[in-house]
Amino acid sequence: MLSRTATTKRSSSLKQVPALIRELPPLPEVATRVLQVMRDPRSRRPDVARLIIMDPALAGRTLAMANSAYYGLARRITSVDEAIGYIGFEQTKQLIYAASLQQMMTAPLSGYLLERGMLWRHSLGVAMGAHWVAERLRIYPVHNAYMGGLFHDIGKLALNRVVQEQARAQQRPLDEQTRSSLVQFERELTGYDHAEIGAMIAQSWQLPEDLVAAVRFHHDPGQQQPASSLVAAVHIANTVCLNAGVGVANQDYPFIFAEEAIAILQRLGWKEEDQEQLLKHIEQEIKQAEEALLRR
Ligand SMILES: [Fe+2]
Ligand SMILES: [Fe+2]
Repeated sequence: MLSRTATTKRSSSLKQVPALIRELPPLPEVATRVLQVMRDPRSRRPDVARLIIMDPALAGRTLAMANSAYYGLARRITSVDEAIGYIGFEQTKQLIYAASLQQMMTAPLSGYLLERGMLWRHSLGVAMGAHWVAERLRIYPVHNAYMGGLFHDIGKLALNRVVQEQARAQQRPLDEQTRSSLVQFERELTGYDHAEIGAMIAQSWQLPEDLVAAVRFHHDPGQQQPASSLVAAVHIANTVCLNAGVGVANQDYPFIFAEEAIAILQRLGWKEEDQEQLLKHIEQEIKQAEEALLRR
């Protein structure tokens, strides 16, 4: 339950929330337009390609993905249009979100004691983990689990500054968050937590409802009615990453798996030993992603 001070704080900071969201950089122009075009069932591959080539970095990534060993093509693809044909609309969308979020999530977040690149590493780990769980347990569409993982901590970008300012004003050391519940720490300082602010951001970016829910309930899947398997997949990947220190500050406080999430996953065939495999998979994928980045 919220303490009395936290409740008072909440009502006084209510007006600040839209401002917090505005403070967050919007999705880059090209990404927003590509995603709009993709939402239209009448849009065709060349429409999407025409927009992607307006952003050289994005065009480069699209080509690199189609030419990666994964697709095993015999010749080099040099047109974005053709590249989209090979990797498909869904994968292209995933790539655009990942590229846009990487730009935003790489900066250090001192309110959360996160050094440069840490939030990105964590989000990528959760995305890859949730995707693995979804594939294993046939939670469709599996790319939604990836996206849920990528977005789940987006609220930290908006709350970072307020957490830092309030901690200073209220003379509370920032490392308190590593010794107790982070969500509780945020609520006491700001009246909000990053999951609820993140869901507001996801909504303002017009993400689909199930992704908004994955962001909103990633720490507390039992609060969602009815609880969904997508949220459970993101929750379990997040908890594994937090406990293993994947992209997080030194953490002394153990993160507990929510019973509701475990129950949902078990009904779909999840076994206890899968947890260990999940962590191995995440660590391997992150290593590969980092190696790929170094090679660029
Ligand atoms: Fe979180
Ligand atoms: Fe997280």
